[in-house]
Amino acid sequence: MIAAAAPAHRFAVVSDSNVAPLYAARLLSQLADIGEIAPLCVIPAGEAHKTRDTWAALTDQLLDAKLGRDSTVVALGGGVACDMAGFVAATFMRGVPVVHIPTTLLAMIDASIGGKTGVDTDHGKNLVGAFHQPSAVIIDPQLLDTLPLAELRAGLAEALKHGAIADAAYFDFICRESPSLLAEDPRRRDVLALNHVIEKSVRLKVGVVAADEREKGARKALNFGHTIGHAIEMLSGYAMRHGEAVGVGMLLEATAAEREGITEPGTAARIRNALQIAGLPVVRPAGPSATSVLQSMQSDKKSRAGASEYAVPSRIGVMAGAEAGFTVRLPDAVVAEVLA
Ligand SMILES: NC(=O)c1ccc[n+]([C@@H]2O[C@H](COP(=O)([O-])OP(=O)(O)OC[C@H]3O[C@@H](n4cnc5c(N)ncnc54)[C@H](O)[C@@H]3O)[C@@H](O)[C@H]2O)c1
Ligand SMILES: [Zn+2]
Repeated sequence: MIAAAAPAHRFAVVSDSNVAPLYAARLLSQLADIGEIAPLCVIPAGEAHKTRDTWAALTDQLLDAKLGRDSTVVALGGGVACDMAGFVAATFMRGVPVVHIPTTLLAMIDASIGGKTGVDTDHGKNLVGAFHQPSAVIIDPQLLDTLPLAELRAGLAEALKHGAIADAAYFDFICRESPSLLAEDPRRRDVLALNHVIEKSVRLKVGVVAADEREKGARKALNFGHTIGHAIEMLSGYAMRHGEAVGVGMLLEATAAEREGITEPGTAARIRNALQIAGLPVVRPAGPSATSVLQSMQSDKKSRAGASEYAVPSRIGVMAGAEAGFTVRLPDAVVAEVLA
């Protein structure tokens, strides 16, 4: 598949320190059949390493290995490895192809799809990056067998987001199937249900991105939960997983939007229930004050003129603000109240 989608003279595999020992050797031996292999690039696992420093180290490794424009970067890992490898590919020699092989549920259904790449800065998440569409995304659900359960749960939060913004029946499906999707023992998981989640979410995200690649309108719907989510994720020092923060973010944003009469009453309760069934947190980490969360949101790129914009559903499966670019404005005072 890689040879067909992104043929190259040389291949550089970017993975992280947890995933590389599990799967890199198998990938490298298969890649050796279709081209030359550059030394494996392994980044330390974790969001804290999705930085410009890591980008610089990776591009230096590619330059040291004398890779040229006729190279393809292959990402093997979760959303961090995909975002990072994608940004390296977007910028190396002004852009070389990237193929994603996502290894977390979150990366399979969200991060590997749609071409957003980038790194975090002290000012916020994903503030430096580029749009760079992958030449292929290769999803092998069996890779999830080694994924820690907490990471699987976090991935399900983004699947719930897809249901909440576009498909109420899918939202209900996830709630119903959560116990069988999340069995501790991978052999006891309902493979058909898991495959359905992957396929459904991928199709949903592809549809949204194809309609609005550069996020001028409809794609903003995918930011549901992320305005608050990114802030609490960052303020936790990345101790909270991205998916967990997005889950809490959806709950809090929906609660604020309900208070403003934008979202149908009961929507936040359904989201809370779904998160609880999936074993996901429903409160933000104690510590940062409501004011500091609000301040951190204002440096987020989705804020304009000091007021934060939110993408929220009007009810499960339908977005609010379709006539106004798929965002609504919520008064800081109401958001502060909900955060408190
Ligand atoms: N580009 C986008 O459109 C987009 C969309 C959503 C999220 N994201 C980004 O994705 C990131 C979160 O991704 P994530 O949740 O995949 O986190 P992650 O990449 O940090 O992976 C989570 C953990 O699981 C480990 N792991 C991954 N695959 C494994 C496997 N198969 N077996 C065992 N361990 C494995 C990793 O080493 C890591 O410790 C965030 O940075 C977020 O901003 C990007
Ligand atoms: Zn996300």
